[in-house]
Amino acid sequence: MTIIMNWTMKITTSPGNSIISGIGFGSFDRGNRVYNKKVMELFTNPKNVGEMENPDGVGRVGNPKCGDMMELYIRVKDGIITEIKFKTFGCAAAIATSSMVTEMAKGKNLEEAGCITKQQVADELEGLPPLKMHCSNLAADALKLAIEDYRSKQAGEPQADTSEEV
Ligand code: FES
Repeated sequence: MTIIMNWTMKITTSPGNSIISGIGFGSFDRGNRVYNKKVMELFTNPKNVGEMENPDGVGRVGNPKCGDMMELYIRVKDGIITEIKFKTFGCAAAIATSSMVTEMAKGKNLEEAGCITKQQVADELEGLPPLKMHCSNLAADALKLAIEDYRSKQAGEPQADTSEEV
């Protein structure tokens, strides 16, 4: 889990490369992790954050190991995700990957969006520390559950279980 306040950033620049290292205190990311510039940009300025009123589909995912949580909401028109938002109680990687997933999924049809993998998310972010790869599961899995939720509502089925542990 991340507390955005009460943290410092150390910028280390080597020839042709720039590494931004977030150094946390208290519960900030539980230790010192090295994130690239793109991850840090989305962590500090995430896109599509917030709750959605009357979403067409909702996915909720929790990671029992770290206790982080994610909720993702979609609005669908003619099979296309027209609006997408997320709320997370998670680490810097969870915030950055969630932001990236929402950007990747917006405007895609449900089949394409449902095929977004954690590796594709990490690739779009130009890499995540290996220890943080599991964080990208939260958003990718929440998106899949939101799509399932939308489909079961459309089919008039009893509401799908839209929560999952990863
Ligand atoms: S440490 Fe839990 S999602 Fe990143």
